[in-house]
Amino acid sequence: VFHSHLEEKVRPYIDLIDSLRLIGIDKDIALPSIAVIGDQSSGKSSVLEVLSGVALPRGSGIVTRCPLELKLRKMKGGVHWRAIISYKDECIEFKDPSLVQSYVEKAQSELAGEGVGICSELISLEIFSPEVCDLTLIDLPGITRVPVKGQPDDIGQQIKRLILSFIEKSETINLVVVPCNVDIATTEALKMAQEVDFEGIRTLAILTKPDLVDRGTEKNILDIVRNQVIPLSKGYIIVKCRGQKQINDKVSLAEATREERDFFQRHEFFRCLLDEEKATVQCLASKLTQHLVDHIKKSLPVLSEEIKKQLWDVRKGLSQVATGPPLDPLKQKAYLIDVRKTLTRFNHKINRLSCGEVVN
Ligand code: GDP
Ligand code: NA
Ligand code: MG
Repeated sequence: VFHSHLEEKVRPYIDLIDSLRLIGIDKDIALPSIAVIGDQSSGKSSVLEVLSGVALPRGSGIVTRCPLELKLRKMKGGVHWRAIISYKDECIEFKDPSLVQSYVEKAQSELAGEGVGICSELISLEIFSPEVCDLTLIDLPGITRVPVKGQPDDIGQQIKRLILSFIEKSETINLVVVPCNVDIATTEALKMAQEVDFEGIRTLAILTKPDLVDRGTEKNILDIVRNQVIPLSKGYIIVKCRGQKQINDKVSLAEATREERDFFQRHEFFRCLLDEEKATVQCLASKLTQHLVDHIKKSLPVLSEEIKKQLWDVRKGLSQVATGPPLDPLKQKAYLIDVRKTLTRFNHKINRLSCGEVVN
């Protein structure tokens, strides 16, 4: 879903970033990562799954037990899907998308043990495919309050610290995921996001499970989505992801997207949210896309400065070369070494610019 939006609007910028990366200025222009936070089973992994097109471990209880960084790398057409999962000293490559879940589960068990433990060590999953877009998504363990058997007493604090370490980064977009059938006013995740992003410039709230809303509370949900209860500067989007039954029935993501639209079109209370552009995953994707475009536009002036600086460095190096060697024979060797360094650096830059390969 996300791909078509990105292709249209962000692609030119991403191409720009790619070419800038080739001359070594990627540090200032990394696309923001997108992190999901919320209570356990609020639907975080489901939202990420539908945005990325990558099937992640999902379900009831604590499923996501380590932070998972999903790095999507767009490849040229014709290239086969390929992934590399890395954690601790492990680094495994695989070529079958249906193995993602089992590899992630295996990694979690090795890091956090079997069962219900959590671990702050990162699992990194890099996916190379023509069908993804260049994005980094972060799936995080859900917030819990009461430890279950086998969990330490301070599990709630541990998880909150872990989540904070991701969401406090100013380059992260925080998606706060809240199911429609809980009291949103008391949602811990929303409070955490507001604490690290006071103005709400990088916080977007997502209401999930509209199909499970308690009868009689639909009007309250409408007010929330319309930003009238707990106002957020980036507002709310309501989405319906696949429920456990749809997963068991192997309903595809594409089919789920159609069902989602049907669901909202038929919904007595929520139907109007389609026109207001506050419902469906499609709409979430386009909001995120806009956010990415804005972010990139904002970073462009910084980039322009960086390019000027690099150019100046190269010119300075070349002008030293142009003056010729010193007369003092003792200094000539040092001069030649300097010239060689400058020329090598220059050569690298030219190579990077002209052949489009990253030279490290
Ligand atoms: P997480 O723990 O926050 O990552 O939540 P998951 O994504 O694992 O989802 C928890 C459960 O809720 C799974 O069984 C999902 O299938 C289900 N779920 C997620 N979104 C929806 C939704 O919109 N409607 C329904 N009915 N179930 C959903
Ligand atoms: Na879960
Ligand atoms: Mg999860």
